[in-house]
Amino acid sequence: MSRPVALITGASRGIGRAIAEALSPTHHLLIGGRDAAAVAEVVAACESAEPFLTELTDADTLAQSVADIERLDVLVHSAGVIAYGPVAEADAEQWERVLAVNVIAPATLTRLLLPALRAASGLVVFINSGAGLSASAGWSVYAASKFALTALADSLRAEERGLRVTSVHPGRVSTDMQAELHLLEGRPYDPSKYLQPSAVAQAVKLVVELGTSAVVPSLRVTP
Ligand SMILES: NC(=O)c1ccc[n+]([C@@H]2O[C@H](COP(=O)([O-])OP(=O)(O)OC[C@H]3O[C@@H](n4cnc5c(N)ncnc54)[C@H](OP(=O)(O)O)[C@@H]3O)[C@@H](O)[C@H]2O)c1
Repeated sequence: MSRPVALITGASRGIGRAIAEALSPTHHLLIGGRDAAAVAEVVAACESAEPFLTELTDADTLAQSVADIERLDVLVHSAGVIAYGPVAEADAEQWERVLAVNVIAPATLTRLLLPALRAASGLVVFINSGAGLSASAGWSVYAASKFALTALADSLRAEERGLRVTSVHPGRVSTDMQAELHLLEGRPYDPSKYLQPSAVAQAVKLVVELGTSAVVPSLRVTP
C-alpha cells in the first residue's frame, strides 16, 4: 500500500467524518465508529478506506482492533462525548463516562499505537476544544476531560521526540454534539451560527500537509 495511513476515531459523523473527507485524496483511511452502517457509508465515500469498528472504552477490544497495524502515519482522535450542567449535579457515573471516552480512550489508543507511529515518524492530532483552555459555569466535566487531553498531548509531545503532536481547539461546530449541547443548555439550535465541520478538517489537513518540516503544538479555530 503506497498511501500513508491515517486512523480517525469518531469518523462516522461530525468533525471526524469531515477530516476523513479532507484526507481522502491523499491517505488510506481507517474509519472509526461504532455504527457499522454509518461507518460503511463514510468508507464508500472515501478513495481508499476501511472500517475501524470499535467501542473505544473497551480496552480489550481496542487492543485486538489495532493488533495488525504495524505502521501509522496519522492518528486523529476525534471521538468524544459532551456533558453540561453544574458541579452540584455531576455524579460519579457522569464523570466516569465522559473521562472514559474523552481521556482514557485516546490515551489507551495512543499507547497501543506508539510502535506503529514511531515506525512512521507519525503525527497525532487530538481534537480538543476551547473548553480545554478555559472553563466556566456548567462545563466542569467536559472541560476537565479536555484539560486532561491537553495535558496528555503536551506530555506525549515532550516524551516522543520523533512524533509530532497537535491539539486542535475548535469553538462551537455544527454537529450532532452541538445539537445535543443546545438541548442540555435549554435553548434553540441554529447550526448556521457555528463552524462547519469542514473548517476544522481543513485545519487538520494543514497540519498533516506540513509533514515533518514543522510541529504545530496547538491550533485554535473559532466561528
Ligand atoms: N461539536 C462541537 O461544537 C465541538 C467543539 C469543540 C470540540 N469538539 C470535539 O470534537 C470531537 C468531535 O465532535 P463532534 O461534534 O464531531 O461529535 P459527534 O458529531 O457527536 O460525533 C461523535 C463521534 O464520536 C464517536 N464516539 C463517541 N463515543 C464513542 C465510543 N465510546 N466509542 C467509539 N466512538 C465513539 C461517535 O461514534 P458513533 O457514531 O458510533 O456514536 C461519533 O463518530 C469531540 O472530541 C468533541 O469533544 C466538538
